[in-house]
Amino acid sequence: MNNRPVLVVTGLTSSIGRELGTMLVNDWRIFGISRNPPQVPDPYEWIVADLSVAGQGADHLVQRLAQDNIVHVQGFVHLAGVVFSDAAVATTGYEWDYTCAVNLRSAFELAVVLKPFLTTTASVVFVSSVDAALSSAAGPAAAYGASKAGLNGLVRHLAAEWGQDGIRVNSVMLGALQEGMSAQNPQVASELARRIALGRLGTARDAAQAIRFLLDSEASSYITGIALQVDGGLNIRY
Ligand SMILES: NC(=O)c1ccc[n+]([C@@H]2O[C@H](COP(=O)([O-])OP(=O)(O)OC[C@H]3O[C@@H](n4cnc5c(N)ncnc54)[C@H](OP(=O)(O)O)[C@@H]3O)[C@@H](O)[C@H]2O)c1
Repeated sequence: MNNRPVLVVTGLTSSIGRELGTMLVNDWRIFGISRNPPQVPDPYEWIVADLSVAGQGADHLVQRLAQDNIVHVQGFVHLAGVVFSDAAVATTGYEWDYTCAVNLRSAFELAVVLKPFLTTTASVVFVSSVDAALSSAAGPAAAYGASKAGLNGLVRHLAAEWGQDGIRVNSVMLGALQEGMSAQNPQVASELARRIALGRLGTARDAAQAIRFLLDSEASSYITGIALQVDGGLNIRY
């Protein structure tokens, strides 16, 4: 079973991560990075790290790849994310730093340490958000939006630098999901659904399918440097 291509995923414990893992586990050898991996046996291999701490995820990942004699990695998905829904004037320095560390800095650190391991058909996928471009009816989230916009910028630079090596780098800009915080308030959920062209909130499965598409070196072989909008058309209505 260990001849499957290696995939490294942050945020594997989220609802989207669980969907993605279920879709891919038969074809990929999946390493999840988490602060609190499940205590019950599951099909994944876990690396414990707090991505808010500079360098910790990257150090633990490199140690683990060496320990397991892994020299090739086929995919990396950065799905871990945090949000503080404060007005900009109420956002503390701690909240700003924590958000940017988990959502953006760790994506950079992990992608960079993985670079020597990435194959000539590898795919890197960062999970961004419509909040990179739009303010939400669910409430203010300036630090979150800035961190997700940063991911979209990072995608273009890594895709340009690494394209010669065959490595593709993209992001998905997810819209409002049923599983997300915006759906917890029924009034906000129905307001968001009204703005979505497809007339419904997205699901973790919708998100995971888009990530799977961008990971697939055949299905998305000529796609790099993009932010794929996966939002049911939220971005075309206002
Ligand atoms: N749900 C939505 O509506 C929506 C919309 C647009 C974009 N997104 C994006 O989709 C991703 C998942 O969102 P979600 O709503 O499913 O989130 P969630 O359920 O809150 O899960 C957050 C994930 O991030 C990981 N994480 C958080 N802080 C971490 C840290 N310090 N170190 C390591 N891992 C950390 C958690 O892992 P552990 O707890 O195991 O450490 C968990 O797997 C996020 O990037 C989010 O921005 C979601």
